[in-house]
Amino acid sequence: MKNKLVLLFLGCAFLGFAQKKNTKNTVKIKPKSEFVAELLSKMTLEEKLGQLNLPTSGDITTGQANSSDVATKIAEGKVGGLFNIKSVQKIREVQKIAVEKSRLKIPLIFGMDVIHGYETTFPIPLGLSCTWDMGLIERSAQIAAQEASADGINWTFSPMVDVSRDPRWGRVSEGSGEDPYLGSRIATAMVNGYQQHDLSKNNSIMACVKHFALYGAPEAGRDYNTVDMSHIRMFNDYFPPYKAAVDAGVGSVMASFNEVDGIPATGNKWLMTDVLRKQWGFKGFVVTDFTGIPEMIEHGMGDLQAVSALSLNAGVEMDMVGEGFLGTLKKSLDEKKVTIETIDNAVKLILEAKYDLGLFQDPYKYCDANRAKTEIFTASSRKEARSISAQSLVLLKNQGQVLPLKKSGTIALIGPLADAKENMPGTWSVATKMENAISLLAGIKEVAGTSAKVLYAKGSNLDYDETFETNATMFGKTLHRDARSKEELLAEALKIANQSDVIVAALGESAEMSGESSSRTNLEIPQSQKDLLNALLKTGKPVVLVLFDGRPLVIKEENETVPAILNVWFAGSEAGYAIADVLFGDVNPSGKLTSTFPRSVGQLPIYYAHKNTGRPLSNTEGKFEKFRSNYIDERNEPLFPFGFGLSYTSFEYSNLKISSDKMNANGKLKVTVDVANTGNYDGKETVQLYIRDLIGSVTRPVRELKNFQKITLEKGEKQTLTFDITVEDLKFYNCDLQFVAEPGQFDIFVGGNSNADKKVSFELTK
Ligand code: BGC
Repeated sequence: MKNKLVLLFLGCAFLGFAQKKNTKNTVKIKPKSEFVAELLSKMTLEEKLGQLNLPTSGDITTGQANSSDVATKIAEGKVGGLFNIKSVQKIREVQKIAVEKSRLKIPLIFGMDVIHGYETTFPIPLGLSCTWDMGLIERSAQIAAQEASADGINWTFSPMVDVSRDPRWGRVSEGSGEDPYLGSRIATAMVNGYQQHDLSKNNSIMACVKHFALYGAPEAGRDYNTVDMSHIRMFNDYFPPYKAAVDAGVGSVMASFNEVDGIPATGNKWLMTDVLRKQWGFKGFVVTDFTGIPEMIEHGMGDLQAVSALSLNAGVEMDMVGEGFLGTLKKSLDEKKVTIETIDNAVKLILEAKYDLGLFQDPYKYCDANRAKTEIFTASSRKEARSISAQSLVLLKNQGQVLPLKKSGTIALIGPLADAKENMPGTWSVATKMENAISLLAGIKEVAGTSAKVLYAKGSNLDYDETFETNATMFGKTLHRDARSKEELLAEALKIANQSDVIVAALGESAEMSGESSSRTNLEIPQSQKDLLNALLKTGKPVVLVLFDGRPLVIKEENETVPAILNVWFAGSEAGYAIADVLFGDVNPSGKLTSTFPRSVGQLPIYYAHKNTGRPLSNTEGKFEKFRSNYIDERNEPLFPFGFGLSYTSFEYSNLKISSDKMNANGKLKVTVDVANTGNYDGKETVQLYIRDLIGSVTRPVRELKNFQKITLEKGEKQTLTFDITVEDLKFYNCDLQFVAEPGQFDIFVGGNSNADKKVSFELTK
């Protein structure tokens, strides 16, 4: 009660100029446009530039908020928001400075990289996308919002929707894979999960779609590298997920580091104004990525003053860490390089976001210590996370039905990722408490119960090279490097392997081998682990490879030698339980790849929706053909295609039909297919529909995902599924960048992955 009174008093003090008390004596403020215009009219230029400034929380530690550098700036009205500061207590202290010490008492907005959950951590986004379950994905974002908002956060730098077709790029782990259609569906689900269609609620948070644009296509897969692509490809393949987030009402957009058409996104007016606002109707604000403005100096776009003006004039409103806006826009205004109208518009958009979040009514809206105690990392959220995590795992191979394992006998769990709880949450899990994560060893022991004996040995370090391991285990994600020699480690592993009925080898990448600034040129499992695996295989015992990774890896060799491979990504705080649930068959695996697994790095970039070229191969066996589009030393097709994933049961597709072989632009066709569960387990299947546009005014991909349904089938059950086809499914951007469907012949393929071979055809008539 006392708190509420203090709040009301504070609220009244800072809002006195723009509010009235209603009859119930609660704070009621003016409608948004009036409120913001009135506030804006009272601001000095310095205060306006302050709203555009987003520093990190820097040196703020609990109890010291007032003495930090950032605090001084906040009191002077030079800060609009802060990010990556954790805990209600700290956030409340900092907010207090803004609403008590700064002249206009404008509350701060608090952002964080809440990328795949908060303390309850879900699979890395690439893993999450493999669930192909929009309900689950939305739910994961909603739980993340619930927890983050209970801890003082009201803005997340997510969803990351960068389409990427090159897993050398470490940040494929943070996105939803290679496909624009699936990526768009996921972008929508994430925005809805975070924002809940209502930012005034205290358990929804504002989303920020990133990294606009094309960040997932750096040359050579090297992070931050140059991007260069045609407009046709941008609009058809890379823009759709960003646009979907905008259509879903995302509150903010983050500019990417890379250039687009020769101009860094952070200073690119065509991108930020013409495309984002004029074509797509985006109404929120754009924030730069970390130091995006000063980085334009290195790009060769001028000094800090020039690049700051370039960015503001392009349509960027908030400067993350760069302090270019704060430090130089006054000079640019004096020199007429920017106008006060542009500055005012930027400030307006940021104030509007704060208004929408309800911060003017209650700056401490997200600072409820009781919520922080009761709504974070709860048993029920963890239960949901465990189930979602299990559905993100992809069974790549299961020869001789090695899986599921029996909950009896002796299991040897071996590998550097087996007892590695710090690595389970995966990259970009800022809020997670690593000590709470469940290792595979802990998960297997729990799920196997007392009737199975579980033996453990590390077997090898992540890599022979200690420096590499240090670089790959940053941010506390240690793998506790073992000082013993490789021979000693191996001897211990072989000893338990020989006592066991089955070997589970937990190998692959460490969490920080993918993510930001973790590009790789070699996508194989590190040599130390390959040597371990080969030694384990030599024992003759059945081996299950539990493959940890933040990207598609090159596992051609392992696919030849190991009978069972379960790809587990980094599945979050409950990963250990979730993996064990699948290994022992309590959950039947249903994940399907959203990113192609190549046979070799030389195939990259690789993706299913490629063009046919004028010289496609004429054989399907992968035989080399001179003067055709292929390699002399490798087949064209990948090791595992987009959409692929096995189950402990089997599914049979039959009876694919189309309601008519003709459709006009206003028409609708129905495609039906029977799917039967023909195996011995109940299971889930993601039924995918692909379309090929056979003749176009521009070349069209060999097939494109246009719809899917994830269904549950009991063993022996059969269902008939129906998909509607309308002209919207046939549209694409032509060479004039018009979104059109062109009359002509189309093929439709339906099946369990992107190689689906059941086909029907129809004609779109004029
Ligand atoms: C990343 C962003 C992230 C930001 C703030 C940058 O380095 O590229 O994805 O949101 O830092 O932490």
